[in-house]
Amino acid sequence: MSADFTQTKPFSLPVEMQAYLTERNSPPSEHLDSLRRIAADMPAGGMRLGTEAGTFLSILVQAMQPKRALEVGTFIGYSSLSIAASMPADGQLLCCDVNDTWTAVARQHWEAAGVSDRIELVLAPALETIAAQPPEPHLDLVFIDADKTNYVNYYDALLPRLNPNGLMIVDNTMWSAHVLNLDDTSDDTTAIRAFNDHVAADESTTNMTVPLGDGLTLITHAR
Ligand SMILES: C[S@@+](CC[C@H](N)C(=O)[O-])C[C@H]1O[C@@H](n2cnc3c(N)ncnc32)[C@H](O)[C@@H]1O
Repeated sequence: MSADFTQTKPFSLPVEMQAYLTERNSPPSEHLDSLRRIAADMPAGGMRLGTEAGTFLSILVQAMQPKRALEVGTFIGYSSLSIAASMPADGQLLCCDVNDTWTAVARQHWEAAGVSDRIELVLAPALETIAAQPPEPHLDLVFIDADKTNYVNYYDALLPRLNPNGLMIVDNTMWSAHVLNLDDTSDDTTAIRAFNDHVAADESTTNMTVPLGDGLTLITHAR
């Protein structure tokens, strides 16, 4: 059976099943819900991390209690707020983005949610921001959700900075199933395919992709 690449969300659950789960999943906070509503009115709003993926992120962070975290791709702040709100009070999240307008919305919501003291935002190409960080392992959590053509570069720059028990999470690795469509040779699809193959070939890590939203790949150092 061949995949239908015309579907934008080829791995969505049946509507009734998703509704059943959504009714029972913990709801997002009022500040996350405000960001969801803002994104729904924005042309670029589809870039926001999905609600279920945000809750998943919060739960992982709540269990891990990371002290040092780094996010690549902040947009209006849905994933950063999901992370920061579950971090310990003395935790620090470094957010990397290049867009002042979108991240101004993030700043407002970090402030309103009372977590702005845990977050530093650097507006510059993320590879430059990462290069300015200590080269040795110091990050407990890394979340990557920005320009796809740099995914391999982000992985290579951040893996040496990830603590031995740290976790790297990478969004959009199913790329709406376009990775399967060999007729799709666009830069982004090619980059996601290259990233997935790069991670799969790296025996220094353990990885698996959770088919949640557009695919969240979880990566740790191998045992
Ligand atoms: C998919 S959005 C991030 C969504 C965000 N994680 C959320 O949950 O709402 C991608 C973001 O990456 C940023 N970006 C694109 N290229 C970048 C680069 N080279 N360095 C840093 N950020 C970049 C964009 O400005 C955009 O805000």
